[in-house]
Amino acid sequence: MRRAGGRLVRSPNIAAYWSPRGFVLEEFVRRCRITAAPATIQVLNEFERPATASTVARRFPSLDASSVERQVLRLADLGFLVRGSARRMGDVAERWHGLFPAAFYHFSTREPTYVLDPEMQTQIFAERLKTAPQPSIYKNYGRTARIALPKGMPLDATLSEVLSRRRTSREFGRVEVPLETFAELVRGTWGQTGTVHAGPLGTLLLKTSPSAGARNPVECYVLVRRVRGLRAGLYHYDVRADCLERLRSGEFRHEMIAMASGQRWVGGAAFLCIMTAIADRVYWKYRSSDSYRLFFLDAGHLAQTFVLLATALNLPCFTTAAVQEGRIEEFLGLDGTSEFPIYLCGAGSARTVRPGTLARARSPVHHDR
Ligand SMILES: Cc1cc2nc3c(=O)[nH]c(=O)nc-3n(C[C@H](O)[C@H](O)[C@H](O)COP(=O)(O)O)c2cc1C
Repeated sequence: MRRAGGRLVRSPNIAAYWSPRGFVLEEFVRRCRITAAPATIQVLNEFERPATASTVARRFPSLDASSVERQVLRLADLGFLVRGSARRMGDVAERWHGLFPAAFYHFSTREPTYVLDPEMQTQIFAERLKTAPQPSIYKNYGRTARIALPKGMPLDATLSEVLSRRRTSREFGRVEVPLETFAELVRGTWGQTGTVHAGPLGTLLLKTSPSAGARNPVECYVLVRRVRGLRAGLYHYDVRADCLERLRSGEFRHEMIAMASGQRWVGGAAFLCIMTAIADRVYWKYRSSDSYRLFFLDAGHLAQTFVLLATALNLPCFTTAAVQEGRIEEFLGLDGTSEFPIYLCGAGSARTVRPGTLARARSPVHHDR
């Protein structure tokens, strides 16, 4: 055990929460969790400023001084109490501009343990399947108007050309996007290109973008404004049937802007694709909190495919992470837990740009509430 003589302070990297095991204190950089009694909290509270174990013990006259000092030694050994200099250097949330929830999530979910042995994996999934069936790899709404997507447009641009031409666009023309072009973009981004048999995990989807464990948690909804042959409104892309399901009809320009946190230019797009994630597709398989990252990594790959395809199809396009989750959940009728919004992307027809005019870059700056 380390000696805890000298003055100590409370580690700045402590989160606390109730769990079925009791009240948990977690030093998330050291990755140490303890269940704590109220007395432990009181002792830690005394180390807001540097203090020695004996000084703090004297502040609890009703408690046995040596037991308080032992408690202090244990807390120092586990990293909940540190030397003053270690506190200044080790305050990760402070170094991340005070973003405590981000620091807590990042550090507390680093370096999970992986089961790499295929036999052990098979055993784990076979056991799990006995009590919890896997979520469907497809989502559809069933009893809604269904619009088949026509065969897409052939792409003739080279990859290197597309890569060098891709830019974020925030200005669009009023001309409708042809349905074939729209179909190529939606199918080419979210459509299935094949399936793979994954042993006990059954049949999984393959798409043009990689997906962690081929879990493909991302669903695509489209708010359509200007696509030739499509009524304006909200649609869901049914991957299995490769068609659109009409969920609502109407002109939803203001909704598009509100979903994208008030960015007015988003309302000029011909259509806005709303990516959501179905939580259980990932969490059924990956039972560790770090896997929350996978939703966003998958969505990032899909968005990159989207913008490259849009560029190849000569459609000005964009992505935005300035997502108003609650607004989208309400509009789409999602509970926000089993399925939640993660990313937006959209495109439109090209606008005739006056010579000498530069596209304006106006990313919003956001703040924690
Ligand atoms: C994750 C992500 C989120 C973005 N969010 C916004 C946004 O909310 N608003 C916006 O105008 N641009 C947004 N952008 C676009 C970036 O501002 C843009 O990619 C950057 O300025 C570089 O320009 P380029 O895409 O033309 O290379 C986002 C890009 C990414 C990758």
